[in-house]
Amino acid sequence: MSVYRINIVLFGIRTIGSALIREVIKNQQSLLDHHNIDLRFPIIANSNLAFFEKEDQKNNWEADVNQLTIPYTMSYIIDRAKEKGHENLIAIDATRGPEFAKSYISLIQNGFDIVSVNNIVNSLHHDYYTEVRRNLKKYNTEFLYESHISPGLAVVDTIKDLQASGDIVTKVRTVTSNSLSYIFSRFGNEAVPFSKILEDAEKLGYTHNDSREDLSGIDVARKLLIIARELDQKVELKDIKVQSLLTESISKSTSKVIYNSQKKILDRFFKIAKQNQKEKHVLRYIGEIDLEHNTFEVKLVSVPIDSNFGQLKAGEHLIELYTLNTGTTPIRIQGAAFGKQNTAKSILNDILKIAERKRTAVYS
Ligand SMILES: NC(=O)c1ccc[n+]([C@@H]2O[C@H](COP(=O)([O-])OP(=O)(O)OC[C@H]3O[C@@H](n4cnc5c(N)ncnc54)[C@H](OP(=O)(O)O)[C@@H]3O)[C@@H](O)[C@H]2O)c1
Repeated sequence: MSVYRINIVLFGIRTIGSALIREVIKNQQSLLDHHNIDLRFPIIANSNLAFFEKEDQKNNWEADVNQLTIPYTMSYIIDRAKEKGHENLIAIDATRGPEFAKSYISLIQNGFDIVSVNNIVNSLHHDYYTEVRRNLKKYNTEFLYESHISPGLAVVDTIKDLQASGDIVTKVRTVTSNSLSYIFSRFGNEAVPFSKILEDAEKLGYTHNDSREDLSGIDVARKLLIIARELDQKVELKDIKVQSLLTESISKSTSKVIYNSQKKILDRFFKIAKQNQKEKHVLRYIGEIDLEHNTFEVKLVSVPIDSNFGQLKAGEHLIELYTLNTGTTPIRIQGAAFGKQNTAKSILNDILKIAERKRTAVYS
């Protein structure tokens, strides 16, 4: 079988984008040897500049990107890719924020498959969500995003497999925040103030730059929304009831300086919440979908220390899927889903899935 070349057009080249390039370079030979797949990056772009590979350049991307980038528009990238005859084009969305979502439809209409790590795109308005899927069907292209919930854990694939088998998910419970998993695991086991553990989580890189994004619950809510939509629920972010862990005085509307100087305000609330629990219970911040009662919630709960949620180690994710077939014993997907390398591996897995399906389609 001849070598199957995949041309990756990468958007976003800072933390995750560069980790992906390194992961591909690290695995390039073994992908060739074991899968006969040659992954190349002919076009790499950040928010306003793009690098276009010349035939004799390979793997020197850092120097090239620093020296040889030019301003671009999306239609220029699409035209250039066609003009160069690049086949099997996969666009990678390793951008941050909602801006790049505007380009999805035109990429799909021009035959690009898409792998995304930017989960904001799947939590935009449902009309956009369905428009993307309508176009994917029409243009026979794929959109994979396993890293949107827990990089490295096959949450989306498991749901799709359950649906394909005819089973019906009735309830979902999740811990999908690296930072809040870390914080509550330690808070349950140690006699240390909440704010001290929060600061440790910040130093270790578990939180966003502004940890209020974690404490507000929006990140967990966004992931819950993505799961809900996988379960064919027509819901928006506003339909998810979110219990924020922030107090009014240090909410997003106050400055970061004030927030940083007043984190200790949180200690009293969490000390009381800890004390008010039944014996041998710990706090966890969970997302919950109950389709029987049509509820979508993100909240602080108290769970037995010997339960699956109570046993979670610092930083671990856990997704429980209750289905009609499995009854009261849920399917559990659990593990560490932290770090740029883990995320890069998850993107690479999605790329390889698309590559294998494309190749199978060509040879069948
Ligand atoms: N970091 C992690 O550990 C992690 C883990 C899981 C998921 N994620 C998700 O992965 C995505 C990337 O994260 P990151 O940490 O790599 O972010 P980052 O360090 O902020 O880098 C974002 C990159 O995207 C580029 N970009 C922004 N808007 C763009 C646009 N409209 N078109 C093209 N490029 C654009 C930026 O270009 P400029 O340099 O020009 O601004 C930058 O290169 C985010 O959505 C994040 O939520 C990150």
